[in-house]
Formats: sequence, C-alpha cells, structure tokens
Amino acid sequence: MTSSTSLLGKKVLVGVTGSIAAIKTPILVSRLVQAGAEVKCILTPNSTNLVSPLSLSTLSRNKCFQDKDQWEDYQAKPLHISLAEWADLIIVAPMSATSLSKFVHGNADGLLASTLLAADSQIIVAAAMNTSMWSNQSVKNNWNSLQKREQVIPLDPSEGLLACDRIGDGKMINLDIIELASESACLFKAQNKFLTKDLIGQRFLISAGPTIEDLDAARQLTNRSSGLMGVLMSHAAKLRGAEVDLVHGPVTFQKELLEGLNTYPVRTATQMQTVINDLQPVANVIVMAAAVCDFKKTSPSYKKVPKNLLINSILKNIEITPDIIKKLSSKKLQGQIFLGFAAETGSDQEIKDKGEQKRISKGCEFLMANPIDRKNQGFEENCNSGFLLGPNKMVKNILLSTKLSISHQLLDEIQNYQS
Ligand code: C5P
Repeated sequence: MTSSTSLLGKKVLVGVTGSIAAIKTPILVSRLVQAGAEVKCILTPNSTNLVSPLSLSTLSRNKCFQDKDQWEDYQAKPLHISLAEWADLIIVAPMSATSLSKFVHGNADGLLASTLLAADSQIIVAAAMNTSMWSNQSVKNNWNSLQKREQVIPLDPSEGLLACDRIGDGKMINLDIIELASESACLFKAQNKFLTKDLIGQRFLISAGPTIEDLDAARQLTNRSSGLMGVLMSHAAKLRGAEVDLVHGPVTFQKELLEGLNTYPVRTATQMQTVINDLQPVANVIVMAAAVCDFKKTSPSYKKVPKNLLINSILKNIEITPDIIKKLSSKKLQGQIFLGFAAETGSDQEIKDKGEQKRISKGCEFLMANPIDRKNQGFEENCNSGFLLGPNKMVKNILLSTKLSISHQLLDEIQNYQS
C-alpha cells in the first residue's frame, strides 16, 4: 500500500451498519490502527448480527460503542456529540440503504445516525447492498444527493459476486480504496480543509505502468515502473470529482488498486497509443505517467529463437517506439492540458534542465521530473520527490512525500492553471 503518514495520529471514527460487508470492517480498523490512526467504532443494532463488538474493540484498542451507550447516565456530554467532536475523520463502511436514507434525510435515530448529523468532520461512506436495492430509484436519489456535498466522500460499490448469489453492483469497494480515500481526506485535513471536489465536470486521461515489447516468444524489452504513480493520480482525480480513463501497461502493484477505475489494459507502446488516441477527444487533462518502453523489435518472432540468431536479428531490426505524448500534443485540443513525467538521474540542476527540455519538446504544459537514483523514492517505492516544471519557467520543488500526496499537489497545480 501507500505507506502513508497522513493517517498518523488522526482520530478516526468508524461506523458499521447492517450489510454483510461488515465482516470486512474489522480488517479496515486493524489497517487504520497499523497506519498510526487512533480508532473508535460505532455499531448499529443490525450490524451486531454480522460483526462482534469485541472484535472491533480489540482491533481498535478502544471501547466499541452501541445504541445502548447513548443513554448511560454517567456522561457529562451526550455521547453522539462527544464522538462527533472527537473525530478528525468518520468512515461509514459499509453504509446500508437504511443508514444512507437516515443520513440523507436528517434522521438522528440511533447513535451512529445522530453522530453523523452532529459531525463537522469529513465523512467517507462506502455503500454496500444487494444489486436491486442499489439500483432502486430511492436509493439512487439518496446517493446522488451526496455527490456534491463537500463534507462527504461517497465511494460507489463495485461489481462482483454478492452474498445473495447475485452478480452485479453492490460489493463494498475494497479496503485499499477506502484507505486511499482516508489518506486523501487526512492530507486535506492537515490544511484544515475538506477534500475538494474541484474536478467535477472534468475528464482525465491517465497512463500508467510499463509497456512491454516482445523480442521472441520468450524474451521481452520493458522499462522499470510499478504503475503506482499513475493509478494514484487516477484515484486522487476521481475522489476530487473527475471522470477518469486509465490506460495501463502490466502493473506490478496489487490489482485491487485498479478497482473502481475505468481501465484500459494494454501491453505494447503501439496499443497504448491507439487507445490514448481514441480517448484524447473527450479529455480535458492528459497525464502520461506511463514508462513507455523506448525500443521495439520490428516483427518479433512468435517462436523462441536461439540466442545467437536473436541477437543478430535484434541488432538489425531494433527501432524506437512512437513518442505517444509528443504526437498527441501536436494535435492538442483547445484548453487541453498535458502533464508528462520524466525519470532522470543526476544533480537537482541536471534533473531540472533535462526535464524542462522534455517539457518543451513534448509539448506539455507541465512535466514532473523526478530522480530515480536516490534512496527510498522512485521505482517500486511509495514515495517520490522532484520538480514540477510549468509554463513561464515555473519550477516547483516537490518535497519527498507519498505518491498520493504528490498526486494531489500536481492536481492542485493543474487546477490553479485552469482557473
Ligand atoms: O521516456 P521519456 O523520459 O522521454 O518520457 C517522458 C514522458 O514522455 C513521459 O510522460 C512518458 O510517458 C512519455 N513518453 C511517451 N512515449 C514514449 C516515451 C515517453 O509518451 N515513447
């Protein structure tokens, strides 16, 4: 995962409601605690049929609250008020149709419902229910009413085999994505803000991961890249309200991180170029985080070729792959913004100089130049640093931070540029 520091020391209140996905909530609680958060839980009466209060209190290292606690006579302040005031962040996972309806319609019946209404902190809600319930118009209306609310981060359920044996939408989004949303909310909380929905109405086209070129049936050429930077950019943009198309090569991080995204898996540079070309006309912002393989062999053999024959064939038939971003920016649409990435080595000055040359030659408004020869950052790491280069000789020093934090910083710059 994104080994984040943004959850460290944060007070997170986890609400659990009566959907079978509640069986996953203890793992979420454990992961939040491991990320350094202080966690307290509230269970609705129905959720106690599915998950035990003792599991949650043990994993959170705190008392787990239920409706009956609300009316204990020792409390100096009403419990729903003290819990709401305590929380830096609230996560309701899963959010059932009933609890959603109560929240949307201002119904304070029960400890969780009243705490949600009393809260001023950011609230993440991860819906989970049967497919027909999810597609019911009343539920849809309730869910849609949350989309533009600054305080709320609604996480759509994903598709899959549900506990009722139906296959369809309704599964609670996986815990990795809930954690990403939590980390994002905490990054904004550090600036005393809610996660902004400033990208509503925008469409992002993002590329990620390596591309691979076959030499023969067994050997291949590629560039180093896990794909994490591009996929985190995609989630960050989506959380901020953008529609996102993610075109990705064979990524090496856990596949769960692709859940909830509009994905277009490809393998070669030419395949990536074709898909990106098709999607360009609808994109407001194009982010090329992919490490496109620089070379390919003309007509690779579909059989395994003996080494000595293969090397001769490679030397005679090697060519440079198409520069996707350069070709794309030459037919840039009005108002379209391009952000490229450049993995570089050398001193800060060398990285900035090489980055600026690439930004101009590739026709990008922005280019993030990052070192790949320094410890604990870059390839296969959760952190990065570098320089964001932009129009009018803009140079922004991006300090060593998580790739998720960098994603939000880059989106801030794009947003400032557009407005
Ligand atoms: O590999 P290079 O340093 O030139 O990559 C810089 C930028 O150009 C990156 O955004 C990368 O995705 C893009 N690129 C591309 N097509 C290539 C090579 C790189 O779009 N063939």
